[in-house]
Amino acid sequence: MVPTIASPLDLGAPAFVRNRALLKWVADIVTLTEPSSIHWCDGSEEEAAKLSHELVNKGVMIPLNPELRPGSYLVRSDPDDVARVEDRTFICSVNEEDAGPTNNWRDPDEMNAELKGLFAGAMRGRTMYVVPFSMGPYGGAISQVGIQLTDSPYAVLNMRIMTRMGFDALAEIDETTPWVPAVHSVGFPLVTSAGDRIDDVAWPSNSTKYICHFPETREIWSYGSGYGGNALLSKKCFSLRIGSFMGKQEGWMAEHMLILKLTSPAGRAFHVAAAFPSACGKTNLAMLQPTIPGWKAETIGDDIAWLRPGPDGRLYAINPEAGFFGVAPGTGESTNPVAMNTVWGNTIFTNVALTDDGDVWWEGMTDETPEHLIDWRGQDWTPDSGRPAAHLNSRFTVPIEQCPTLSEEWHSNDGVPLDAIIFGGRRATNIPLVAEAFDWNHGVFIGATMSSEQTAAAEGTVGELRRDPFAMLPFCGYNMADYWSHWLDMGKTLGGKAPKIFQVNWFRRENGKFLWPGFGENSRVLDWICRRVDDEAAAVDSPVGRVPAEGAINLDGLDVSNEAMAKLFEVDKKMWSDEVALTDEFFDKFGHRLPVELTDELVSLKARLS
Ligand code: OXD
Ligand code: MN
Repeated sequence: MVPTIASPLDLGAPAFVRNRALLKWVADIVTLTEPSSIHWCDGSEEEAAKLSHELVNKGVMIPLNPELRPGSYLVRSDPDDVARVEDRTFICSVNEEDAGPTNNWRDPDEMNAELKGLFAGAMRGRTMYVVPFSMGPYGGAISQVGIQLTDSPYAVLNMRIMTRMGFDALAEIDETTPWVPAVHSVGFPLVTSAGDRIDDVAWPSNSTKYICHFPETREIWSYGSGYGGNALLSKKCFSLRIGSFMGKQEGWMAEHMLILKLTSPAGRAFHVAAAFPSACGKTNLAMLQPTIPGWKAETIGDDIAWLRPGPDGRLYAINPEAGFFGVAPGTGESTNPVAMNTVWGNTIFTNVALTDDGDVWWEGMTDETPEHLIDWRGQDWTPDSGRPAAHLNSRFTVPIEQCPTLSEEWHSNDGVPLDAIIFGGRRATNIPLVAEAFDWNHGVFIGATMSSEQTAAAEGTVGELRRDPFAMLPFCGYNMADYWSHWLDMGKTLGGKAPKIFQVNWFRRENGKFLWPGFGENSRVLDWICRRVDDEAAAVDSPVGRVPAEGAINLDGLDVSNEAMAKLFEVDKKMWSDEVALTDEFFDKFGHRLPVELTDELVSLKARLS
């Protein structure tokens, strides 16, 4: 039976909820989606245990062997619902030009009408969960709150790990607190409009999918998918797409960046934020184990950073999330032991393989491949099966507090002051191992012209370059050119207190072979970056930025030849002039919205190259 809502008080809201707009919004969504019951999530252990128990009983979650992976579960999604759906992701700004050429746009009124049709009765026969969450510490200087309404208990359990979720977050919202409303349905009601029952399935979803953002009203509506960034609306939808637009309006920045604390042998602490497109080792860098003696690295964030000028004029960063939603394949004892230690228990694994002793496995986790597994689709698998055992985008969801390298400063209400911002990418040629931007505007130019070679066919043709400015291509909630203007403006606000900007490339190759060993050895590059922050390391100007002077990178104990070092910094004029032509073409797409400063930077680069 659909609950009849006589007044917001009938919603079963906890008594301390006084915000009438919030109660009215919940009541309106109940009327629209017609759930059979409502549950306000308090975020407690008991609540999570009860939900997990229900999902295990229904066969949705498989409990893992408690001796090997305590408190952990495996979930298998529908094979058609395994990743973010960029072609179904829309920015519904009032004016099309405000979404810009890199986003899919829909007219907000038309989209609203379409969504109302899809959401009508979408939760029939299901429970609607009210999921309040805080992005960042409660009441923190850079924090924000949101509420997700969802009919997916799997999303609830993941949101509890990924955010500070529950009544403490709800209590943050009084009559005056701004909060972001987010509505999510898997689009699989259990009762027809005629009242007939429909059988549930282990992974309900809908072949029609919409991930919609209304920047002006700061609303999120997601339909048809239960997976990752499509369903955990705090992550890409709020923290990046809506967040980036809020930042533009309010003078802060929402970025697709990890945050790392580095402490030098002399005990000086540095904080860096780094943006990388996918498949560039972002998680590995967030959990770096330095190889240079005396350096210590601590994790603050692995995916998203919110940046805001503090009272002292410096740029402060928080990781708004409370968990990792990490890609499993390629994460292993040898490549990322910190991540492996983090997922010791209390972890939800999605679309990985199941071992015969009730643990999980994925490609790259161990050097040895098990003889037999149940693959991510639930089928028998052996090394001769000729297909991956875990889906390429299979994930682990785990509380950040289990990360052995977590910095105490993750808890800091005010965030950490940034010393450096780093832009990365996977490039076989052209981009040097490391370069320092000449100044803030040049740094913005470097961010705007980032691109990366594709490693998975799902994102495009393998090996092809994908433009991914600031690693924000699918995540900027407004016109990318306006976003660049906002960065330029922030540089003016920060003035002499702005962090230095750097570019790195761990992936340069010669005859198909990587020239740089990567992983923990990247600490040598970070050491140079930190010493540049303190004006202690030598640098020379190249046409593309300031690069380490000979001998300025600490190579003690590392077997990288002088020729390889030279190649890592080679600027081939012909290849760079091709690169510049491509940038020209890319910038053209943004027409009159392209900030003149970026045109100036391109002109200066051409001059330096000739
Ligand atoms: C992610 C992504 O899942 O960037 O973090 O796609
Ligand atoms: Mn990401």
